[in-house]
Amino acid sequence: MANLCNVDGLITQEAAARIPVLDRGFLFGDSIYEVVRTVGEVPFGWPEHWARLQLSAAAIRMQLDLDEGTIARRIAATIAAAGPGDYYVRLIVTRGLGDAPNIDLAYANGKPCWVVMVRSLTPMSGKPSRLAIIDRLRNDRRALDPATKSGNYLNNVLGLAEAKALGATDCVMCNADGLLTEASTSNLFALLDGVWCTPPLDAGILAGITRALLLRFLPSCGERVAERAITTAELRGAAEIFLSSSLRDIAPVTHLDARALHGGEVGPRSSALLPKFAEFLAQRMQQHYAPTWQRLLGNSK
Ligand SMILES: Cc1ncc(COP(=O)(O)O)c(C=O)c1O
Repeated sequence: MANLCNVDGLITQEAAARIPVLDRGFLFGDSIYEVVRTVGEVPFGWPEHWARLQLSAAAIRMQLDLDEGTIARRIAATIAAAGPGDYYVRLIVTRGLGDAPNIDLAYANGKPCWVVMVRSLTPMSGKPSRLAIIDRLRNDRRALDPATKSGNYLNNVLGLAEAKALGATDCVMCNADGLLTEASTSNLFALLDGVWCTPPLDAGILAGITRALLLRFLPSCGERVAERAITTAELRGAAEIFLSSSLRDIAPVTHLDARALHGGEVGPRSSALLPKFAEFLAQRMQQHYAPTWQRLLGNSK
């Protein structure tokens, strides 16, 4: 299983892939991206990831020049070249070359640059997490909306570094109103008074695809859910907490601010959800994502 990169259609070893220094993604984080994992050569949740990429492009005034079928074929070709296995796939679209290292969009005269990174997948599903509430705020929606999955992740890079300096494995950040938002690369769920609560989109978060799946899955197995504002005090009193993302599915939280929750073990409610959610995802893959992906590749030959 090799780590491969597809830059504008050219597949190379990851180490040999090159982006010019005048690329605006390199200069300014002027790019958007998605991360999916594959199961048996099919990217899980592809339609939702593609839809979110369109929203991110519109949010940063980027005109996408390639259609879904072309990108699906590039992903499929890169996965096929990497050989059998399950993969981490990162799709990045930068605004492409500028005439000069100038932030003004008037200098952005190149075409978007499309990169597909395919790497062997380190299994993270269900991996426990230790969380720290940090002082750094999540980007304000009015400044750089966290709903836009842009390559400009310095807010999260620093948040994660600060949490790790506190001995945690991930951070949770508040917004300017002091309400909780999300972790560095995942959404947050907390069990409050018997209800799985997750911050609402208007708290300033990424509309996580796993979060959306959980909002459907949890009621289907008898759990109560709510999208509602959560305070730091509420999180500190939560019966259980977990994070959600495409790579982690559910990551149960065992520690908050260096304090062990339920003896530092995975909480019983989260523990019971893990196999059920895995089954829900496997079913969704089989019934929805796999046929949709095959149709997309078939229709776009
Ligand atoms: C900031 C942030 N929040 C949440 C998520 C989880 O989103 P998803 O479930 O779509 O992977 C991610 C994923 O990368 C993220 O970067």
